[in-house]
Amino acid sequence: MRVVRTIADLRDRLAGWRRSGERLGLVPTMGALHAGHMALVEAGRSDCARVVVTIFVNPTQFAPNEDLGSYPRRESAHLDMLGSTGVDLAFVPATAEMYPPQFSTLVRVGGLSEGLCGAHRLGHFDGVATVVSKLLIQALPDIAYFGEKDYQQLLIVRRLARDLDLPVQIKGVPTVREPDGLALSSRNAYLSSAERRIAPQFVRVLRSVAETLEREPAAVAREIEWGRRELTRAGFDVEYLEVRDAVDLAPVGAAGSRPCRVLAAAYLGRTRLIDNFPIMPASLT
Ligand code: PAF
Repeated sequence: MRVVRTIADLRDRLAGWRRSGERLGLVPTMGALHAGHMALVEAGRSDCARVVVTIFVNPTQFAPNEDLGSYPRRESAHLDMLGSTGVDLAFVPATAEMYPPQFSTLVRVGGLSEGLCGAHRLGHFDGVATVVSKLLIQALPDIAYFGEKDYQQLLIVRRLARDLDLPVQIKGVPTVREPDGLALSSRNAYLSSAERRIAPQFVRVLRSVAETLEREPAAVAREIEWGRRELTRAGFDVEYLEVRDAVDLAPVGAAGSRPCRVLAAAYLGRTRLIDNFPIMPASLT
């Protein structure tokens, strides 16, 4: 696996592959790699002749009170992991390469960025949309892969690619979970062992809300109230628990007439967990 650190070297290497007609898959990451990222790489390998992984801890998507400073950075371990999974190229730019002096452009996806995580992490999705736009323009992949665990992010990236006419397909990859259901996340490493034992309750509650609403689509308000109570009782500090349209994230009062998603974020101690499940009412299957 080659490692490149400049946009010029990235473009140089990709141009050769593109000239020989090879399909290119892009997996943007911030490092801290786990099996969820490997699922994105595997999806890329099954669709594309070449897979490029980017590793960049993007400062513009962290608020001043967030964990930019402590975000796990273990570059050589990450590169070893990627090398052994058949990745062709890793792009690992420095901050100054991505954000040169006087960088002053922001990509904002209105509407989709505003609720859910966007309401609690101000500016977060502007940072994500800006860096992802840059990565897509730098690499011009045929397909780019994003995990469904960050469902709002996935829809935002899909929308920005469409709105900016970027000739790339954005593919969502199902969430990878621990045997007890907890979604894999780089931030799970922050959980104490006592918190780790409680964490699967988060998934249990979300899954239960989704399953109940598939049988009783009109019970959204009741289920949200129940879910918040259960999570609080288990020791979570709930940031949001909502049911939204699965395509445009519009709030819904009932889950019966279109695919929906239950989405939540909650703190367990100092660790912020997010997750989501599809709600597919029987009438639509
Ligand atoms: O999901 C992530 O790891 C990041 O938000 C992304 C998409 C790599 C942009 O920095």
